[in-house]
Amino acid sequence: MFTLKNVFVIFAISTNCVFSKDLPEYLKNLTCSKSQKDFEDCFVRNGNKAIPLVVRGDPDYNIPKLNPMEIPFVELISTPNLSVNLTNVKIRGLENMKLQKAKLLIEESRYTHWLKGENIIVEGEYVANGQIMIMPIKGKGRFTTNLKNGEYEITSLTETYEKDGELHWKILRSSIKYSFERITFNFENLFDGNKELGDKVNEFLNENWDILLVDFGPGITDIILKIYRTIFDAFCTQVPQKYIFLD
Ligand SMILES: *[C@@H]1O[C@H](CO)[C@@H](O)[C@H](O)[C@H]1NC(C)=O
Ligand SMILES: *[C@@H]1O[C@H](CO)[C@@H](O)[C@H](O)[C@H]1NC(C)=O
Ligand SMILES: *[C@@H]1O[C@H](CO)[C@@H](O)[C@H](O)[C@H]1NC(C)=O
Repeated sequence: MFTLKNVFVIFAISTNCVFSKDLPEYLKNLTCSKSQKDFEDCFVRNGNKAIPLVVRGDPDYNIPKLNPMEIPFVELISTPNLSVNLTNVKIRGLENMKLQKAKLLIEESRYTHWLKGENIIVEGEYVANGQIMIMPIKGKGRFTTNLKNGEYEITSLTETYEKDGELHWKILRSSIKYSFERITFNFENLFDGNKELGDKVNEFLNENWDILLVDFGPGITDIILKIYRTIFDAFCTQVPQKYIFLD
């Protein structure tokens, strides 16, 4: 399914020849102290101030621009029954994501973040051929998907390592759980622009979005974790722990 090979390639251009440095100026006054009583609340408060700043991207820290996030090619579904490819994909709305809660178990190196995104819009061009459940789907054109009121719980297990005498974090593995209020689809120009058939397929997708999440889910998971890891790795490979959480 959702293979996302190109995303890997884009994000892999990092971390050669990286020197330790402090957080960028715009994040320096958003750090929290591990010893403060409301450490986790501070992290949530400041995290929400940091999100719109971080999504602007920062070449000095290998963070691509994320408003919108652009993905040149995604092989969304690749099964014997159905092939769907997406190109020139733009993901909009990441700057409005809200951090709702955080559990930062430093001793256990385990960090959980609860995020909410009201409207994440994914749009671009698609090519589809095959069938999804009982419904034939074939066409080529523009598409828009809206992930409405998504809630994402991301847990990462990290490891501390030393580089140039400084301690850094890296992610060993991450997992994600999510739920949506609704997902809407609009695929234009299905069946060479046959409006009747096209409307029928879109209606079918919109009515069965929760069942179809089984097929689309792994791809969504992949994208979210990739965004998360990109940001985490960008900062944590370059910025020692002591600058990220104060004592
Ligand atoms: C961080 O510091 C800068 C410069 O001192 C200031 O303009 C900005 O408002 C501060 N941000 C927060 C969230 O306190
Ligand atoms: C593919 O389609 C066939 C015939 O409709 C069906 O029996 C089979 O379960 C489908 N396979 C998948 C992976 O959806
Ligand atoms: C999707 O891309 C793959 C890999 O490039 C290709 O083999 C497949 O035919 C494409 N599917 C469609 C429907 O064009």
